[in-house]
Amino acid sequence: MRWGTLLIHNGHENDPSSGALGVPLIQTSTFDQGAYYAAVLAATALETTGPEETKVPQFDYARSGNPTRQALEEIIASLEGGAQGYAFGSGIAAISSALGIFSAGDHIIAAEDIYGGSYRMLNTFYKRWGLELTAVDASEPEEIRRAIKPNTKAVFLETPSNPLLKITDLKTCIGIAKEAGLLTIVDNTFMTPYFQRPIELGADIVLHSATKFLGGHSDVLSGLAVTATRELGKRIYAVQNGFGAVPGPWDVWLVIRGIKTLKVRLEAQQKTALFLSQRLREHPSIEAVYYPGLEDHPLKVIHDSQSSGAGAVFSFKTKITEQALRFLGKVKLAAAAVSLGGVETIASYPVRMSHASIPPAERKRLGITDTLIRISPGLEDPEDLLEDFEQALRQ
Ligand SMILES: Cc1ncc(COP(=O)(O)O)c(C=O)c1O
Repeated sequence: MRWGTLLIHNGHENDPSSGALGVPLIQTSTFDQGAYYAAVLAATALETTGPEETKVPQFDYARSGNPTRQALEEIIASLEGGAQGYAFGSGIAAISSALGIFSAGDHIIAAEDIYGGSYRMLNTFYKRWGLELTAVDASEPEEIRRAIKPNTKAVFLETPSNPLLKITDLKTCIGIAKEAGLLTIVDNTFMTPYFQRPIELGADIVLHSATKFLGGHSDVLSGLAVTATRELGKRIYAVQNGFGAVPGPWDVWLVIRGIKTLKVRLEAQQKTALFLSQRLREHPSIEAVYYPGLEDHPLKVIHDSQSSGAGAVFSFKTKITEQALRFLGKVKLAAAAVSLGGVETIASYPVRMSHASIPPAERKRLGITDTLIRISPGLEDPEDLLEDFEQALRQ
């Protein structure tokens, strides 16, 4: 099946018990196990089978598992080409839980421009708990090789990066990690499996903020993890159940519904991202535009070799700070907000939003200036967005 079909016909298109279209929303915290104990009692009385041979219930308590959540976990595992999927209450819950498989004394190499919240988590909580971190410029894969130490356990990547849309060569980095026996973890939030499937390139764990394109409507917080093997899946399940950062069934249901329209949304949003980035780069107030869909984006060739699209997020720098602030204050069709991937256009200000937790000197070194704005186009007509952006940039 092709992608448009796969997003709808993924084994969960209807409920076998009722014939209803879609996955039932099972809103419960626990499951009645009376039938199981009745079967145990009957088997014991008849002395035919021992209690241990009576099939244990599939679901016992909602932190450990829920049928609605399981449907989403199976859907994301199949879309990413992985063995197991796990759902969490937010993207950061998925990332922190995946990192929970490591121990004090382990060393992680991370791309220096991963999502600001992931950087903060690694650099504060996990550091305090004894996980060592080295941040490298992963667009130079040799930096990963140079950072490997005897206690290194994993490489954590994100491509395109946020907010400057830098590209990491996944195949080369995964190759370096594999040679050294390390796991590769990829945050695939920006691309989604529709455009990029890191497990097919050899990655071990793929992470998502499903709050973004997978949910797609700015109405739910959710996170996902997919493992390439069942063995790794067991390790993440132990953290999912043990830490308990799980999503509620209603949130899971919204993500399942969002995934059905992923292709049409992303195709339209990608077109708008290209249109706006091409037009804005000609604007006199704009210093630079960052988007892997632009022909002169450095490493576009590498991005195109590992992804089937440029995605639907771009960023730009105005010439002076006042122009950026003016844009955020005057733009009407874009919400000046944190987040991306919704049906409504969002303009983010990384220096005060997603990357505010990165120390100023470090931010400056990374090029995250106070003239930088990140755009996630929604499904509005592109010409309306352009007109609105132009009025917001007018002096
Ligand atoms: C690339 C990326 N990863 C992870 C996250 C964290 O996700 P959440 O906000 O759902 O916790 C974000 C949020 O902006 C993100 O952009």
